[in-house]
Amino acid sequence: MTSQGNNLDRWYGHYADRTAGLSASEVRALFAVASRPEVVSLAGGMPYVSAIPSDLITGSMERVMRDSGPAALQYGSGQGVPALREHILDVMAMEGIRANVDDVVVTTGSQHALELVTKLFINPGDVVLAEGPSYVTAMVVFRSFQAQVEHVEMDDLGLVPEALRQRIAALKADGKRIKFLYTIPTFSNPAGVTLSWERRLEILEIARSNDILVLEDNPYGLLYFDGPPPQAMRSVEEDGVVYLGTFSKTLAPGFRVGWALAPHAIREKLILANEAAVLSPSSFTQMIISDYLSQADWRGQIGTFRDVYRERRDAMLHALEDYLPDLSWTKPAGGFYVWLTLPENLDSKSMLPRAVRELVAYTPGTAFYADGSGRNKMRLAFCYPQPDFIREGIRRLSTVINGELELLTTFSQTAPLRVDRRQKNAINPPANLG
Ligand SMILES: Cc1ncc(COP(=O)(O)O)c(C=O)c1O
Repeated sequence: MTSQGNNLDRWYGHYADRTAGLSASEVRALFAVASRPEVVSLAGGMPYVSAIPSDLITGSMERVMRDSGPAALQYGSGQGVPALREHILDVMAMEGIRANVDDVVVTTGSQHALELVTKLFINPGDVVLAEGPSYVTAMVVFRSFQAQVEHVEMDDLGLVPEALRQRIAALKADGKRIKFLYTIPTFSNPAGVTLSWERRLEILEIARSNDILVLEDNPYGLLYFDGPPPQAMRSVEEDGVVYLGTFSKTLAPGFRVGWALAPHAIREKLILANEAAVLSPSSFTQMIISDYLSQADWRGQIGTFRDVYRERRDAMLHALEDYLPDLSWTKPAGGFYVWLTLPENLDSKSMLPRAVRELVAYTPGTAFYADGSGRNKMRLAFCYPQPDFIREGIRRLSTVINGELELLTTFSQTAPLRVDRRQKNAINPPANLG
């Protein structure tokens, strides 16, 4: 047998076709540079875990080890610890979801649930519909199962139902198999936009009538700043929705505990897939979270997170008004992200090295599209840096953007120096978000 290796990788040529979708994302490549302390990173979606009093977690760890140490250190159920699944029902009730404890499957973060659902449904060439823009690492998963990701337009009220209808019709006419609609309807990543209640109902109806499963990913729904968002889509539709939740943003991602709530038959397959992948999710971290939820004022703690992130969102929006008043951006009512639109002729990806030299980092817009769109967009995360740093980060960013515009003007007489305020992107600030 002849070797198909190359100088760098002896096994090149042996990998499965599906690994072609496993390219390092822009976000991943960024983490290395952006984690230097002098860089203000507006790139990663890291929750501000320092807002959790550490004695609460230490107390839970000690109680778990004292009262149920052997069980915590043992393999557990492939579906997850029953007591935690009961608590998860209380968490989901805050978003209007009524469910049975048997229909919850605990996973190793909701990222793993995304992978398991994709594994259950996607054959090579199947279509996944997703908002444009959409969560970067979900698309990495979809591509790694050789799905064709098709974006559907969104505006200030989220996914546009008519665009969804048209896209489905066109794909069906093309003979494509659409397996599910992946959506982050509340405080979306990366756009920071929330799907209106009326549209939630309309989109569920479109999915139902076309026999398309809805995969509702909701890590940020409880992190609202100006009042609760519309209830989860799963609150009105049981059979057609797989709902994903996580403790990563409302508690801490280091536990790696998330969950899927799925219709009965799908849930059965999910448990088997979970067992095949990890045998059982970590008993240890599930039991710590379960103890924390029964002992601590976790609703109050989520309130503290809301206050922290609201202050940071405000710092970012004020800094954008002050330093980049001619650009447009979304005004999220919750979550972690602002989506910024640059003048048409700027490319956020090629501008990034210069930004890092100026000690500020962001995520380029192209990371959030499967088709190379988003060149003049960027995601700005306000979750992690302190408000003063956010302001300084936006100041540095404005230096980079204005420098880039000046360069373009120097080399091209036709390039506009600044964008016109009325030249809006597809996603405008939601009217009700202040
Ligand atoms: C939209 C979305 N889904 C899923 C995840 C994964 O979260 P987890 O830590 O639960 O795996 C993230 C994390 O940033 C996210 O933003």
